[in-house]
Amino acid sequence: MNTEKPSSTTQSAYYVTTPIYYVNGAPHIGNAYTTIAADAIARYHRQQGRDVFFLTGTDEHGINNERAARDRNLTPQQHVDELATAFKALWNTLDISYDRFIRTTEEQHKCGALEFWRRLQASGDLYRASYSGAYCASCEAYFQEDELEQGDICPIHKQPVEQLQEENYFFRLSRYQAELEQLVGTTDFVQPVSRRNEVLSVLRQGLRDFSVTRQNVRWGIPVPGHPDEVFYVWVDALTNYLTGVGFPDDQQTLERYWPADVHLVGKDIIRFHCLYWPALLLAAGLPLPRHVFAHGWITKDGQKLSNSRGNSIDPNELAARFGVDAVRYYFLRAIPFGQDGDFTEAAFVARYNADLANDFGNLVQRATALISRFAAGRAPAPGVPTVSATSVGASESDDLHALGEAEAKLLRAAHALPPRVADAFERISPDGALEAISGFVSVANRYAEETAPWHLAKDPDAGRRLHTALYHLAEATRLACWYLWPFIPTAAAEGHRRLCAQAPFAGLGAWGVLQPGARVESGPPLFPRV
Ligand code: MSP
Repeated sequence: MNTEKPSSTTQSAYYVTTPIYYVNGAPHIGNAYTTIAADAIARYHRQQGRDVFFLTGTDEHGINNERAARDRNLTPQQHVDELATAFKALWNTLDISYDRFIRTTEEQHKCGALEFWRRLQASGDLYRASYSGAYCASCEAYFQEDELEQGDICPIHKQPVEQLQEENYFFRLSRYQAELEQLVGTTDFVQPVSRRNEVLSVLRQGLRDFSVTRQNVRWGIPVPGHPDEVFYVWVDALTNYLTGVGFPDDQQTLERYWPADVHLVGKDIIRFHCLYWPALLLAAGLPLPRHVFAHGWITKDGQKLSNSRGNSIDPNELAARFGVDAVRYYFLRAIPFGQDGDFTEAAFVARYNADLANDFGNLVQRATALISRFAAGRAPAPGVPTVSATSVGASESDDLHALGEAEAKLLRAAHALPPRVADAFERISPDGALEAISGFVSVANRYAEETAPWHLAKDPDAGRRLHTALYHLAEATRLACWYLWPFIPTAAAEGHRRLCAQAPFAGLGAWGVLQPGARVESGPPLFPRV
């Protein structure tokens, strides 16, 4: 649960969601990946003082969950209760600061889904028809014959589809062809561009109406007037993004957060989010989310991870071995968000040692240990150039002007960091933000080497230069901690606390927060080498 809200005044609202996960198996690293990314995004915007709402949860109806319960000799409700608890426990372990965990079996969600259904009926876009076709239960979706592999294999799950025939309600998706072409083709609703092109190619084939109720499924929300039918699980699930922020009764919360700023999804479910969902919202007369961002798949040995294939990576185990921050960091740094990424333990360990132990961990260790040793644990006052006395020119700001070339370089990097990070988050690029922050960490480490406080300390005439070097090193390190907090909240908050005795919240993301005289503490390494 989110207990880490900034206390500063809030600006505009920001609403970010993850998919709600099926509970047909224990949570795996693929689910964790989306959720960690959403968490970093939510934390960043909170740090910026925005009024953030971060929604995640579980998709508990449908044939998959029903079958999983049957296989375990449990009632569906017993099964989903147990699994929802496992998801919450993992999010707790991974420091996920969600504002609400929604479950589609909750009464409030069911009431909201029914209201959404009433609006669809009122739109005239629902009609009865019978249908027969190839159905993949794992996708919970019908496929056209030309979409299947070898005639009857689901292209996503690589397992045989079933032939289903039933009469049910259909939604007139075809009516929204032009509006969706406009939305997807002329705006940045779908990101990244590669996914937009994929959605456009589906649109070019012409949209077909799809069935929105099921007769062969018992575990779902009963359809008004047709007690032997339940809502199609995707219609039920998609409405969570509305019911999670109060639809329909809590108008105040709904208006505060809806429309969502971004739905984060995996690339496997873009059809539902980029075509079905906006069309359903248009029919229901509700505003559309601003963006859908689809990330790639994490693979192991080139294979999609799945419980059914038995090649999952256990996020609990990974976190127990390397620490939660390391898990969060690795996946967001190593995989360009939007592309696929293959997991290997060797790459994980290499990045842990290089980025976290050697670069960031070492920087915090240096800054705090040097101040403890050479400045009696108090942030010293800056004032004179550390290396050379060369002026950096009248066009630079006052703080640059007063100091030397080494400080000017560091400050230029510090001033460039906030807009670079902001731009990366604007593009939903956590890896881009981390690249910018890592670059700054390197600049700060180079500053330490260039000014060499350990040498200045031996020179009796260099007292003021030593203080300048230590102040700049400490403030640069604090800034690195502040910007790393959304990604590695435990280590970054601890680093920040050692340097300025404050939590890394809003208003502290600019140069100059560290006050001369402030107590600086050293401590054990934040990331011991593996
Ligand atoms: N219940 C639906 C979503 C409904 S949202 C209204 C669903 N659930 S799921 O549990 O199968 O997967 C949800 C998401 O988990 C995927 O879209 C993706 O975000 C993430 N991942 C599942 N496996 C993944 C990988 N191997 N790699 C990365 N993410 C993947 O679909």
